[in-house]
Amino acid sequence: MKILRIQGKVVSGSGEGKRFTELAWVKKQITEKLDFIPYPGTLNIKVTEPNFSLKNLSEKTKWMEISPANDFCRGRLVKARFMNNLECAIIIPEVKKYPKDIIELIAPINLREKLKLEDGDVVELGIMLS
Ligand code: CDP
Repeated sequence: MKILRIQGKVVSGSGEGKRFTELAWVKKQITEKLDFIPYPGTLNIKVTEPNFSLKNLSEKTKWMEISPANDFCRGRLVKARFMNNLECAIIIPEVKKYPKDIIELIAPINLREKLKLEDGDVVELGIMLS
């Protein structure tokens, strides 16, 4: 199986990730689809690969869908590995104007604490291509 390696830098977000992952229907679907309970929030990575775009990545991988409750936006998930093989997944909210070089990660653990990460630190993730 081919693995796509993506490099980026840790960045801070707006705190939206925490709100989203803690919604009951999001948490339930993530837990069912990924077999782990997400640590609240998302770790944001600004991708530094020259020709990266989320649209491109979307076409190369198999995404799972998170269906919304009420009038919330849909989301998409794909399993990934962070740094030294830590279990995680990319989560993309399907909102307009979502930046094309930001990836949000969810994981069973707090990745910043585990790896002592600060904004600007260079990180890598691996995604299995379908
Ligand atoms: O405010 P921001 O969008 O950056 O973060 P958040 O989604 O509210 O998450 C709270 C904090 O936990 C942030 O510092 C995230 O980077 C971090 N986090 C993490 O390190 N590992 C996770 N699995 C989830 C969140």
